[in-house]
Amino acid sequence: MDLKVPEKLHVDAFQVHFADVADVDLEQLHALSIAVGWPHRAEDWQALRDLGHGFVALDDIDRVLGAAMWFPHGETFATLGMLITSPRLQTNGAAKWLMQRILSECPGTSFRLNATRAARRLYRSLDFVQQRTVFQCQGKARKPGPAHELPAGCDLRRLRASDLDAVIAFDAPAFAVPRPVHLASLFESSLCYGLFRGEALVAYSMSRAFGRGHVLGPIGALSVDEAIAVARPHVDAHTGRFLRVDTHFGTGPFASFIQDCGLPVFDTVTTMTLGEGVDYGTVGDDKGALFALASQSMG
Ligand SMILES: CC(C)(COP(=O)(O)OP(=O)(O)OC[C@H]1O[C@@H](n2cnc3c(N)ncnc32)[C@H](O)[C@@H]1OP(=O)(O)O)[C@@H](O)C(=O)NCCC(=O)NCCS
Repeated sequence: MDLKVPEKLHVDAFQVHFADVADVDLEQLHALSIAVGWPHRAEDWQALRDLGHGFVALDDIDRVLGAAMWFPHGETFATLGMLITSPRLQTNGAAKWLMQRILSECPGTSFRLNATRAARRLYRSLDFVQQRTVFQCQGKARKPGPAHELPAGCDLRRLRASDLDAVIAFDAPAFAVPRPVHLASLFESSLCYGLFRGEALVAYSMSRAFGRGHVLGPIGALSVDEAIAVARPHVDAHTGRFLRVDTHFGTGPFASFIQDCGLPVFDTVTTMTLGEGVDYGTVGDDKGALFALASQSMG
């Protein structure tokens, strides 16, 4: 792949140039995501900028016509997201140009992203490999059927700051690598629950304000029953209000539980990776799996 990316690109009648996503007006980023129907608020963009890096495509009068971001998790792995080009600029090569710039900035890095249908072909052309489907479930939350008893010997409680290290260690195999910075940041802005067997954490869950309401994720658990046990208090907390869950589980008891909570599948995206060993963990290897993502961009 040729990673010599030109500094300028002629796009139709436009010429766009790169700028750092950190240096542009938040409202311009917000307007860009609104233009493609994404629900992000200005605060959501700011939270993403606090954690990641990115480039925007600016025209000659500094209007933001495109954006792309990456979120490093350690030295050699990053998630990618927020790839958007303004509708009037699409299919002119701008998204590819932004992506190539990011790839050229991060030599030796493996990547994971969640691709919309519109972007899948672009990522394939950059050698990304399709891994699995993400089901974006959302709606007005309602209380699911009566709770099963907690798994034997388990205790469900709100997480405390002193639990954060246990969450980071538990999450790492499910996510692919440790993500201490991101989890610490999510911890600050989220309602967090943990399920403990004795002293050992066997599941955790977080929910926070995002987009049209709240998002429930990440959820990490050893088994589906434990995932449901830590998801339930968030659904109770947001009953009657907009709630969203991004999950790889499209069938089975976790998917049924999410549907029962009034959150049908709204859309799907596709997890794709570039590089080895950076897909999500799976259930059943007694290391825990991610039942819900923090977000499509951060994984
Ligand atoms: C997806 C998106 C970023 C693509 O942006 P773009 O500027 O049109 O992409 P490019 O012009 O760089 O196109 C790159 C490749 O995708 C192809 N492509 C672009 N739009 C396409 C479409 N609607 N259908 C099929 N192929 C398409 C181009 O032909 C090109 O293919 P090539 O590399 O084989 O020549 C843009 O449509 C968008 O912002 N969509 C809404 C937000 C979104 O879905 N973002 C992706 C998040 S993962």
